[in-house]
Amino acid sequence: METVVSGIRSTGKLHLGNYYGAIQNFVKMQHEYNCFFFIADLHSLTTHPTPTDLHSNVRQVLVEYLAAGIDPEKATIYIQSEVPEVSELYLYLNMNAYLGELERSTSFKDKIRAQPENVNAGLLTYPVLMAADILMHRATKVPVGKDQEQHLEMARTFGNRFNRLYKQDYFPEPYAFNFSENLVKIPGLDGKGKMGKSEGEGNAVFLSDSPETIRKKVMRAVTDSGPTAENQPKPTEIQNLFDLMKVVSSEDTLTYFEELYNKCQIRYGDFKKQLAEDIIVATTPIRERIEDIAKNEAYLRQVNRFGAVKARESAQKTLKEVREIIGFKRI
Ligand code: TRP
Repeated sequence: METVVSGIRSTGKLHLGNYYGAIQNFVKMQHEYNCFFFIADLHSLTTHPTPTDLHSNVRQVLVEYLAAGIDPEKATIYIQSEVPEVSELYLYLNMNAYLGELERSTSFKDKIRAQPENVNAGLLTYPVLMAADILMHRATKVPVGKDQEQHLEMARTFGNRFNRLYKQDYFPEPYAFNFSENLVKIPGLDGKGKMGKSEGEGNAVFLSDSPETIRKKVMRAVTDSGPTAENQPKPTEIQNLFDLMKVVSSEDTLTYFEELYNKCQIRYGDFKKQLAEDIIVATTPIRERIEDIAKNEAYLRQVNRFGAVKARESAQKTLKEVREIIGFKRI
């Protein structure tokens, strides 16, 4: 069976974009592959979170993974920092990662622009740590979005370079993977781009949002003054809301509002009210599970311990072999 690895950064609450874009994919994959899903808390150190924020974010992501349907009996769910082997493999891979290629990575260039006051070596070697996460389990499939394509390419480069250096065929090549042909892109409520946390309050609907919050956010979503001619193409902010509806509402509901739009009879108030209610229906079971699981300290501890054991089993096997290949031998 092929091995799958994916990580989510531990930045706290998950939104509809995380859910429909990534987690639903994970939930499907866990039945068909040997899956490792982890919370990338080491990666999050590049931005220097406070210990309290770090801990509460990691815990929140774990709770929400479980609430969204990732099953610890099927997939291995773990917290990256619980597996020290990843840091060791990261060190070895760093020896074959070159400054030039790291500096050329798009995500590094973006980060320099975003946090010029904190351009640390961890940012530079972020792709090496990510390669360690993947190569650690000798995974071949990595369910991630388009923005991670370059990181995957670097993971292949580092794995292949290791293989070449030691004349071994040890690490397989990992490739980005998606279940559905067309990636679902979940737009935000601000009428501009995709749903994201950093795009400002109100742009993202979180899985943990209460029905009142969801109604408030959706009713405030940007719209225009309405279509003026029949079958007129939709401006981006309206198309975005229809795209959201496509994900959460029934086919009939979508068609109903499409037709009203095309006949210039749509009332955005009604449209948004329906959209909000359908988001509430879609998220309520998850929100309720989030609330339950968050209270269940013993369960969370058990999931964490169990996941760390399984992840370390796989990691220790790799590290033992890697050390031998490198030539570390006890005297
Ligand atoms: N870089 C990924 C992101 O920002 C998170 C991540 C870290 C990851 N390590 C990984 C994803 C390994 C897949 C595999 O989304």
